Amino acid sequence: MASLNFERLLSSKIRRRQVLIGAGGLTGLAIATQLPTRVIAQPKFSDYPFKLGVASGEPYPDSVVLWTRLAPDPLNGGGVSADNVSVQWQIATDENMRQIVYQGTEIATREFGHSVHVEVGGLQPSRWYWYQFKVGNEVSPIGRTRTAPNLRDRVNRFRFAFASCQNWQQGYFTPYKYMAQEDLDLVVHLGDYIYEGGVSATAVRPHNGSEPYTLEEYRNRHALYKTDVNLQATHAAFPWIVTWDDHEVDNNYADEVPQDPELQSTEDFLRRRAAAYQAYYEHMPLRRFSIPRGPDMQLYRRLTFGDLAEFNVLDTRQYRSDQACGDGQDVGCTEALDPSRTITGAEQERWLFDGLGRSQARWNILAQQVFMAQRDFEPEAEVRLSMDAWDGYAASRDRLFDFIQKRQPSNPIVLTGDVHANWVADLKADFSNPNSATLGTEFIGTSISSGGDGSDTNANTESILAENPHIKFFNNQRGYVRCELTPARWQSDYRVVTAVTTPEAPITTRASFVVENGKPGVQRV
Ligand SMILES: [Fe+2]
Repeated sequence: MASLNFERLLSSKIRRRQVLIGAGGLTGLAIATQLPTRVIAQPKFSDYPFKLGVASGEPYPDSVVLWTRLAPDPLNGGGVSADNVSVQWQIATDENMRQIVYQGTEIATREFGHSVHVEVGGLQPSRWYWYQFKVGNEVSPIGRTRTAPNLRDRVNRFRFAFASCQNWQQGYFTPYKYMAQEDLDLVVHLGDYIYEGGVSATAVRPHNGSEPYTLEEYRNRHALYKTDVNLQATHAAFPWIVTWDDHEVDNNYADEVPQDPELQSTEDFLRRRAAAYQAYYEHMPLRRFSIPRGPDMQLYRRLTFGDLAEFNVLDTRQYRSDQACGDGQDVGCTEALDPSRTITGAEQERWLFDGLGRSQARWNILAQQVFMAQRDFEPEAEVRLSMDAWDGYAASRDRLFDFIQKRQPSNPIVLTGDVHANWVADLKADFSNPNSATLGTEFIGTSISSGGDGSDTNANTESILAENPHIKFFNNQRGYVRCELTPARWQSDYRVVTAVTTPEAPITTRASFVVENGKPGVQRV
């Protein structure tokens, strides 16, 4: 792996003394941007403007997105007084920013919270790059990113980690301290990047204000989360692919239905959703096609890594039918079986089947939010299911599983967040029949911090595993899942920390699982 000075990413003192922009010889093309009028090129800031760090994402073979947001006063609206600020960027092939291949200027606008999204093209596949921003006399930390392999290239190894559910109030983001030091090509985030709750009396570290409704409030919440040094280090170390779940807007919302529809009209909720979506876009390294239009935002998309892996990144919140029988657990909810129900919406479902049908990749990944395998919580004969997960959208899951059985895409693997615990499950043609065909495997990753320290097992672990023979593993600690893919094998390592309510805790690999190419069904290592 290319070298990365981890200490430097964490040291803001050093950051401010790096005056590297302009130090390197130009080996590539300088991009001249047509500047609109009233752009401030030499702004004065009340404080360091790169307090939210840098990030990159959406790796294509020739292109990545570089991100930052100018925010000298991040928890109070950002603190940039000018409307439009000219921000310089550079991308280089070395960590000291000497071999610069491209540089340019992007305008950070008030409209988008002075965030910066640069789609850099013309890059070489499968290689590391380093990047940096400059505004006035201030320079950002240096970030590192990596392009995807060419679409048809044979890829012998690919490594990534996935994470979800980082509740600021319930713990430190210690897992990211370790993730930043892993040997990875990519990080995937499966949602609950922020939590929308107000200040909790029992918080390990409190939220900055009450529950957000407006754009400014969502910006301040995202900014708070982005000040975490371990999160910043992992963003600076790897390109990310992100998708959201519910807490980026409102707990358990479904399309245009809020958590508490009796307290909020549809119009008010759609206004709130628009604010939340825009703040999400502003704080993530997303491509231009994800710029929100009112309450709508294109987040489902596909990213391919040579012949080895294809990620179908799903959005199971924006288009879903409202939860059946309430959004908790339910026994015998017939509404959940209604064939017209959908968790993806019809258009995303068509797009997903089309992609899975055409895919040439060895491993076909669904990177998504909520539990797909059936999970019966009831040890008795009754079946008690979560109505917020795919169990509450049986028709969606049946259509997907029918498609997989008919078209047999190569090695389906589902990645899931949401439930703040580690699980591993095989996906069965009929979950009530252990002898039915195994169609793929679902790796459910625990939270970064949501739920606090947790414990290895729960009181009901044994009964849930006994009740659901397709579920192979449960663990209730915090951490992330590290995955290594080769043409022959998929391995998932469940990395867990002993605590998140105290800032420093060691990490271990709690368990590892493999799926062999062409042999559906997971095995414990
Ligand atoms: Fe969560």
